[in-house]
Amino acid sequence: MNTIAVLISGRGSNFKALFDACEDGRIDATIIAVVSDQSEAVGLQFAKDHGVETHVVEKLPEQDRQAYDRTLINTLDSINADWLTLAGFMRILGPELVNRYLGKLINIHPSLLPAYTGLNTHQRVIDAGEPKHGATVHFVTEELDGGPIIKQQSLDVLPSDTAETLAKRVLQIEHKLYPLVMQFLISGHARYENGKCYLDD
Ligand code: GRF
Repeated sequence: MNTIAVLISGRGSNFKALFDACEDGRIDATIIAVVSDQSEAVGLQFAKDHGVETHVVEKLPEQDRQAYDRTLINTLDSINADWLTLAGFMRILGPELVNRYLGKLINIHPSLLPAYTGLNTHQRVIDAGEPKHGATVHFVTEELDGGPIIKQQSLDVLPSDTAETLAKRVLQIEHKLYPLVMQFLISGHARYENGKCYLDD
């Protein structure tokens, strides 16, 4: 059985979606740990309530990014999961960590990458008058939100949309897309090779 660790910073609704999919067999895996950089992350409570091991790795004031990443690596190595899924983990990870887990470190991002990397994607999409928006699951590489795309799903932006309504609809997409992609990876239908994502038909 494959194992997954989920990294969160807040609400953790994508973690819940992954957890439910593991429970009902849509993903052939077990979530063995949730790691948060925020001790107050709401998603930690869901993990505790469902018997999932939790780890809080907060950034200490004296730590730079490299020192923080090393602490995080120690925790992730001790968990030793097959897959590391970022689900609203609000920290930029440095090259040492990213390259250590290349091919097994996955992220979900609320935009149709490569468009709209970074934060506040929904408002930026509206401000730009984009007709389409969506979500992307990708391998994490050194380039922020720039790793090989595994799969994305789009929706139409409606004239009546606000950042809030868009966020809600994109999140609904995310909750289906992330489990689907994790099962692709686990079943070997998607894989990382030489900086690219290969997908079976
Ligand atoms: C999601 O929109 C995800 O794409 C982004 O952060 C948000 C996390 O939401 N990376 P949640 O914590 O999973 O509810």
